[in-house]
Amino acid sequence: MLETRDLNAYYDESHVLRGVDLRVERGEIVTLVGRNGAGKTTTLKTIMGIVRARSGEVTFEGRAIAALPPDRIARLGIGFVPEERGIYSTLTVAENLTLPPVIGDAAWPLDRIYELFPILRERGRAMGTTLSGGEQQMLAIARVLRSGAKLILLDEPTEGLAPVIVDAIGDLLLEIKKSGITVLLVEQNLRFANRVADRHYLMVHGKIVDAMTTADAVAREADLLAHLGV
Ligand SMILES: Nc1ncnc2c1ncn2[C@@H]1O[C@H](COP(=O)(O)OP(=O)(O)OP(=O)(O)O)[C@@H](O)[C@H]1O
Ligand SMILES: [Mg+2]
Repeated sequence: MLETRDLNAYYDESHVLRGVDLRVERGEIVTLVGRNGAGKTTTLKTIMGIVRARSGEVTFEGRAIAALPPDRIARLGIGFVPEERGIYSTLTVAENLTLPPVIGDAAWPLDRIYELFPILRERGRAMGTTLSGGEQQMLAIARVLRSGAKLILLDEPTEGLAPVIVDAIGDLLLEIKKSGITVLLVEQNLRFANRVADRHYLMVHGKIVDAMTTADAVAREADLLAHLGV
């Protein structure tokens, strides 16, 4: 569904993505793991067109997208949930869910959103600012489903959340996967990654240095945790 080939990106003269090659098949959950500063967020931003690739290609459903502007990329069905979650803090939960532009037939109706996220119905009149971290993350994911994303790019969705909330987010991702949505997930929490993902890429200094199945990652957990420094 998604492929990057020899993707290179810079911030000014700083060469941050150094030939990133990765693939995500339809219906998979794939994680990108790596230490702070490895280039994980930049990879998601480059796929989304927010950071421009200086060279290399990104293909989505067989179509070259690296030269497209971010709004066109979003319209093809890629949703991005940034680390800061990107919800409107001065709008209510319900307003946050009615606002996203609904694109194509993949867009989830509100009823379906509320079925998967009953807490968002309960909290419908609450302002974004009053939500817990876990509720904010759920709202952010719900917004991209509402907009019709077929592929979701998630940047560290579990960061700062209590273990029981991390488990709830994991359950949600597994439900979303059942409905055919594809997820590329940046994650530092290896146990969470192993629970939800099919495969993992390990990124070091702007390069993908390893591709692992979840079984590989579980077998190498001690090594990986030492590398990640967590
Ligand atoms: N807007 C920016 N301008 C300049 N340099 C940046 C910018 N954003 C990130 N960088 C640098 O690019 C490199 C990769 O950053 P990136 O945010 O992609 O890493 P990351 O793997 O997501 O790290 P983290 O785990 O801390 O989120 C780092 O050296 C970072 O300091
Ligand atoms: Mg990051």
